[in-house]
Amino acid sequence: MIEDSFVFSKNFEGEFHTAWQAPSNIALVKYWGKHGQQLPKNPSISFTLSQCVTKTEVRFRPRKANDTAFDFLFDRQEKADFHPKIMQFLDRIYPYLPSLENHHLSIATENSFPHSSGIASSASAMAALALCVVAFEKKHHPQWSKADSLKKASFLSRLGSGSAARSIAGPLMVWGESTAYSNSSDLYAIAPETALHSVFNDYQDSILIVDKGQKKVSSTLGHGLMEGHPFASQRFEQAHQNLNHIKTALATGDLDLFIDTTEAEALSLHAMMMTSNPRFVLMQPQTLAIIHKTVAFRKETHLPICFTLDAGANVHLLYPIAQQQPITDFIQSELFAHCQDGQYISDQLGTGAQKL
Ligand code: PMV
Repeated sequence: MIEDSFVFSKNFEGEFHTAWQAPSNIALVKYWGKHGQQLPKNPSISFTLSQCVTKTEVRFRPRKANDTAFDFLFDRQEKADFHPKIMQFLDRIYPYLPSLENHHLSIATENSFPHSSGIASSASAMAALALCVVAFEKKHHPQWSKADSLKKASFLSRLGSGSAARSIAGPLMVWGESTAYSNSSDLYAIAPETALHSVFNDYQDSILIVDKGQKKVSSTLGHGLMEGHPFASQRFEQAHQNLNHIKTALATGDLDLFIDTTEAEALSLHAMMMTSNPRFVLMQPQTLAIIHKTVAFRKETHLPICFTLDAGANVHLLYPIAQQQPITDFIQSELFAHCQDGQYISDQLGTGAQKL
């Protein structure tokens, strides 16, 4: 199905050059399970990060006979293994931007974080590429507002990787229809207008790298595990409830509620993987050691630190900047030993993508 309002009929041709930087994001309420063309089975909300970014430069030129759709450099080197994912993305977005198919794209991209860190780069990568494509389209639709182009960028990013829909603006992004956020949509993410309590200003995310390896479960396989999952409907219902809790916590600065909901979501995501068919245990002994020590440290010190997880073994530790000193001391003395090669990334809330 094509969402007609995202297709602009005007055909155009020409050369264009642009470059965008898009951030990674960490979900507080997790998206797990999809249907149709990259539509979420439940709404999700994420913090936009600021340091983990993908920078992408694209040169567009009219495509000649026998010309390929694109060429691609990652860290200035050819990366043929990324080609199928990019071609799949272009094939999915062509219907929403027919003129694009008549152009060859020279894409050069790099990440601020190591590709082999186990940090998913598909969200920031797809968002950065989508923003370049939208900049090209906007040149021919100068009447578009900034909000129009960000909406279309989120819509297109979603077609590359669901969570990429949330890698456009910030510091918060909501994707998926819910009663909690009245203008939310399954088609694109929105930056909610509700105020974010000041305790979350510059909120910190220390990403502890437990496993630098390739993903053990591909996104497509992972989301597919929710088809016929025995707990699917309860899980989708739980995500709606948790979205309400997180919304309240973010607006009021209730950190107990924030911590409780964020950790419950992380473990619920992994519980879904552990109870699907086939089943996966993506947490590792070091993941559990970090979780146990973090919870014990919180109980002992009453400092508002909490953990969350993606679909992998790495741990994100979230905490207010005001408590940065004692918490980084704790991380350095107690948790670094559990990181692979002592690797970690210090990040914090960000404001979204930028034109370079
Ligand atoms: O964007 P995808 O298809 O790679 O899915 C990401 C799913 C999680 O990272 C596990 C959760 C989320 O909402 O980001």
